[in-house]
Amino acid sequence: MSWSLCLTFTLLSLGQGVPIVQDLPKTGHSNSDVEPILPTGEAMSVKQLNPAHYPASRAANAALHYLNTQHGSPYRWLQVERVLDATVEEVAEIGMKYNVQFAVKDVTSEQSVGVCSSEVLYPVRERQTPPRVQCFCENLLKLNSYKEEEALYQQLSSNNSLLSGHDIPDSYGFIATEMRPFWHLGAVASSFVMLKESNESTLYNMAQVANVTQLETQNETLKFQYHVLLHEMVSQEIIHWKLIVSWCPAEGVRVLTAEWQPKCEHCVVPPANTTNTVQTSSSE
Ligand SMILES: *[C@@H]1O[C@H](CO)[C@@H](O)[C@H](O)[C@H]1NC(C)=O
Ligand SMILES: *[C@@H]1O[C@H](CO)[C@@H](O)[C@H](O)[C@H]1NC(C)=O
Ligand SMILES: *[C@@H]1O[C@H](CO)[C@@H](O)[C@H](O)[C@H]1NC(C)=O
Ligand SMILES: *[C@@H]1O[C@H](CO)[C@@H](O)[C@H](O)[C@H]1NC(C)=O
Ligand SMILES: *[C@@H]1O[C@H](CO)[C@@H](O)[C@H](O)[C@H]1NC(C)=O
Repeated sequence: MSWSLCLTFTLLSLGQGVPIVQDLPKTGHSNSDVEPILPTGEAMSVKQLNPAHYPASRAANAALHYLNTQHGSPYRWLQVERVLDATVEEVAEIGMKYNVQFAVKDVTSEQSVGVCSSEVLYPVRERQTPPRVQCFCENLLKLNSYKEEEALYQQLSSNNSLLSGHDIPDSYGFIATEMRPFWHLGAVASSFVMLKESNESTLYNMAQVANVTQLETQNETLKFQYHVLLHEMVSQEIIHWKLIVSWCPAEGVRVLTAEWQPKCEHCVVPPANTTNTVQTSSSE
């Protein structure tokens, strides 16, 4: 597979109420106009990873967060179904490069979506630096959430009162049906933060929407203030962020501001059955 395909995929930025309908060629052909992410010839030995272990899931999850930032919506939240194959190589003075293949599912429609191949590069830096991700998904199912998004949008924009909700899911893991789109939207927005905060030794999961409040807006784009709790699986820390999120079917999801919050003392994290915890056995 050539990186030209990955770049093609990256440029097909949907996530805007446009159905994902992609039929990219399956055989790689090189395209000299497209630079590979890394110069070749500098890679050291390539190491095969156990797909069930942390290093593989961390890289797959970073790629997944990237996909959610591109394609997520209140009706489209992608998750790693299973890591199929993973390798890592150290590239001198550049970083650690993972090549990960994983199966993806859409939580909102409970459908398997297809298989993605990704390259995740964690640069060597002293400060926190987000990984660089390229991703190519083959055989993506035709996920079309346009109707549901449009209906939700009409409902929210025609209502005189602003939406609000809290504890999604609650401490028993329960989510009211009418709150599901706001749980998914909060999770997709959190992917922007989780991607930015990820490094080679973190594994973030969405834990809870502590609360969500719709804000007044001057134009057609809806805005929400979210307080989200994220679970860092390696340190077992719960991290609290305040996000201002915009959404409309035509523009997709954007995170306008993200503020780290001091620890939320009274927050109780719901049981893990709601949060699609990444499956891992042990770290290597
Ligand atoms: C990776 O992220 C963790 C958690 O935020 C942080 O403690 C650590 O310093 C980061 N590592 C690097 C190299 O930035
Ligand atoms: C309008 O909002 C209120 C409060 O959030 C809610 O109870 C009501 O069901 C909404 N109406 C419609 C038509 O969605
Ligand atoms: C949302 O939850 C956070 C954390 O518990 C809290 O600090 C904040 O005041 C809450 N906001 C609203 C509008 O309920
Ligand atoms: C609405 O306004 C925001 C800035 O507040 C802007 O980013 C967005 O593109 C606007 N949306 C539309 C549909 O005009
Ligand atoms: C998680 O478990 C609780 C309690 O058993 C249940 O009420 C809830 O519906 C479950 N959530 C999911 C998403 O399965």
